[in-house]
Amino acid sequence: MVLLTMTHVTKSFGNQHILTDVSLTVNGGEVIHITGGNGSGKSTLLKIIAGIIPATSGEVDLDDSVQTGALIENPGFLEGETLKTNLTFLASINHRTEVSTIQSLATRFDLDYQNHQAIRKYSVGMREKAGIIQAVMEGQNLVLLDEPTRGLDEAALSELVKLVAELQQQNKSIIVASHDNYTPIAYTAHYQLEGGRLSRIVNEPSSTP
Ligand SMILES: Nc1ncnc2c1ncn2[C@@H]1O[C@H](COP(=O)(O)OP(=O)(O)OP(=O)(O)O)[C@@H](O)[C@H]1O
Ligand SMILES: [Mg+2]
Repeated sequence: MVLLTMTHVTKSFGNQHILTDVSLTVNGGEVIHITGGNGSGKSTLLKIIAGIIPATSGEVDLDDSVQTGALIENPGFLEGETLKTNLTFLASINHRTEVSTIQSLATRFDLDYQNHQAIRKYSVGMREKAGIIQAVMEGQNLVLLDEPTRGLDEAALSELVKLVAELQQQNKSIIVASHDNYTPIAYTAHYQLEGGRLSRIVNEPSSTP
């Protein structure tokens, strides 16, 4: 089932053209890896898919079933509040998840759910883990992960790789953006963003579907 269709999407900020004629179709069960250098427009593309900013022109169609989960750039949290308060607050908006689900994700990523520290005191990796958790904790079926490996230690990286594989098995779609061509995450398609254009990279010897 097609979850996302982007057709001829462009994005400009003033007279700066960031995305040019970007088209992309994402099916359930696909893991899309988008790579591109700093400033190539990866986060901009994810923000358009998430509906955080509008495209300048073109179409972005989401299937009616789509619930989007997103970790884009620095995830916004209630900085003075704890992990538990933040995640339960986010969960209270949609009422689609149980505390036990959130707790078990925290445990998987070795975060102490009951920790009294304010999120603003979290390390880069701890914050990234919290960002990953909120992007998946409601069973979202279109999960956008912008540089999700940032700051993660070995154990967390391996949990992330497992988590993405599980989501894929549940027929969810995951889009991972990274400035790095290498990712430990197994993907089904690799696209490169360069000069505002998104092109699929095929026949890649090192791809790991
Ligand atoms: N709100 C904005 N207003 C003006 N320009 C913007 C805005 N957001 C992004 N840009 C510009 O768009 C371009 C692409 O930015 P974007 O953050 O999408 O790149 P990126 O590929 O995610 O880079 P990085 O690897 O550094 O995260 C950059 O030139 C950036 O300055
Ligand atoms: Mg970015």
